[in-house]
Amino acid sequence: MSAGLLPADITVVVPCYNEAPNVPVLVEALDRAMIGCCWEVVFVDDNSPDGTAGVVSEIARRDARVRVIRRVGRRGLSTAVIEGFLSSSAPVLAVMDGDLQHDEANLVPMMRLISAGDADIVVASRHVAGGTNAGLSGSWRRVLSDSGIRAAQMILPHRLTDPMSGFFAIRRVTFLEVLPSLSGTGFKILLDLVMSSGKRTRIVEVPSVFRPRLAGESKLDVVVLLQFAMMLADKLCHGLLPTRFIAFGLVGLIGVSVNLAVAAVARSFGVDFAAAQLWGTAAAILANFQLNNTLTYRDRRLRKGRLWGGLAIFSIACSLGAVANIGVARMAYASGGHWDEASAVGAVIGVVWNYAIASTLVWR
Ligand code: GDD
Ligand code: MN
Repeated sequence: MSAGLLPADITVVVPCYNEAPNVPVLVEALDRAMIGCCWEVVFVDDNSPDGTAGVVSEIARRDARVRVIRRVGRRGLSTAVIEGFLSSSAPVLAVMDGDLQHDEANLVPMMRLISAGDADIVVASRHVAGGTNAGLSGSWRRVLSDSGIRAAQMILPHRLTDPMSGFFAIRRVTFLEVLPSLSGTGFKILLDLVMSSGKRTRIVEVPSVFRPRLAGESKLDVVVLLQFAMMLADKLCHGLLPTRFIAFGLVGLIGVSVNLAVAAVARSFGVDFAAAQLWGTAAAILANFQLNNTLTYRDRRLRKGRLWGGLAIFSIACSLGAVANIGVARMAYASGGHWDEASAVGAVIGVVWNYAIASTLVWR
């Protein structure tokens, strides 16, 4: 029977952003590697400016095993993978990079482990014998990757040598089970799946060689790393505190350091105490606004005209928040509290107030 008439045994989901030159090479590589099984590949593209989606469509017109999902006005590796998985009816789902960093020869053995009932999730690991992360683009990337792995291992319910791998396969029913608890932020979809999966989920690792990227550049940036930190925090809090609130709090802490640093610098230039405080506070408000706009409320980011209005409301809210903070701390202190407890109570009230205003009036 010709390709496309048999239902797929496996759907390979490839999240992509600006991977146009890599797409045809990857489809060819899959065609060669997946002999003897019915497969399909779904490219999930966030409307890349380089026309990745168009390149996939072009191939899809000739090859029914190739599909594209184009998302408009959205960004994100994890949600791209989730939506690609959801578009599939195959019993086994896999995900890999669109830049040929992952070795397609691993796919069939990974699929077999799942179909044979030996595993629910199979991870292609760079850190078991036979695997390597030699393709990581520099020594700082290697250090980052290793520290990320260590951080993740502390909170994982399963022992994994490479919880940050972007190359894995999962049984469709296992995916559907954990789907409601996925956080969907950042790059670490595997971590998200594993952390949300139960103790009974069987996870197997296979060695894999991580190759250098073919064309284009990596999309892993500082924002992605911060999102990773937020996701760890969220999982550690067992979803009791919303991720956005944790992010808001972390940004607030950065603001405190900005405040102290700027005030100290101003003082060293001979500015008097009150004025130095004012400078510090203004700098902190600006820094917090900027960070919240690019990070905490990334999905509701204010641009151009709406930016200034947002900044104005945010500054007023923060100033009122500071007044409330001091007021509450004074009250707590006056009613017999310790001064550090009193100021902690004040700070918490201040953060909650700022968060409420930010979420309702600034970033709606
Ligand atoms: N749709 C979509 N949207 N795809 C994206 C986005 C996005 O916002 N950001 C990145 N991608 C796609 C890329 O085009 C690529 O195909 C894949 O996701 C992985 O992104 P890379 O930019 O190639 O990431 P990397 O190679 O630096 O990181 C890899 O290694 C990490 C571990 O060190 C990835 O495999 C990560 O998943 C992995 O954690
Ligand atoms: Mn890559």
